[in-house]
Amino acid sequence: MTNIAVFASGSGSNFQAIQEAIVRGELQANIKLVVTDKPGAYVETRAAQFDIPVLALSPKSFDSKAAYEQAIVDELRKQDIEWIVLAGYMRLVSETLLGAYQSKIVNIHPSLLPSFPGKDAIGQALAHGVKVTGVTVHFVDEGMDTGPIIAQTAVNVIDGDREQTEEAIHKAEHALYTAALQQLFAGKVQAK
Ligand code: GAR
Repeated sequence: MTNIAVFASGSGSNFQAIQEAIVRGELQANIKLVVTDKPGAYVETRAAQFDIPVLALSPKSFDSKAAYEQAIVDELRKQDIEWIVLAGYMRLVSETLLGAYQSKIVNIHPSLLPSFPGKDAIGQALAHGVKVTGVTVHFVDEGMDTGPIIAQTAVNVIDGDREQTEEAIHKAEHALYTAALQQLFAGKVQAK
């Protein structure tokens, strides 16, 4: 069983989809910890529903980003965490975490990268008028939604309807992340 930590800053629907896949037996992993940089985020409520502990640390209460990330690494080591799964963690990861978890940090992003990195990728895609957008799972490096791509899926834009398009993207995210993680943990995907 692969021990993982899920990092999230907001709602946590991806966290929940991963945990539900684990419960259904579709993903051989164990979410030992949820990490959030936004104490009080809704992901904490979802984690409590599954009895999963949360580490909620505000970066502002540390002297530096390195100190903030080191506090997280110390906790992850204590809990034998093998992989870090970013799921709506809206913060760049820097060398403290990257060095401690080399090629063991993955992210999901709601666009077909390298198009529309950063915040509000769905809004960016709609503003651009694309007809097809999608979802990307990738290894994390120091950049903003950069790093080698592991898996992608396309989603058609539903003309003029942000809500429906968003819903389709989130549904695609939940399916793609679980499938990609299963491949990764089974050793079927290597970091380039
Ligand atoms: C997801 O759409 C995820 O792809 C995105 O944040 C959302 C979090 O939703 N991440 C990024 O944009 C990363 N650049 P969730 O909290 O419901 O899982």
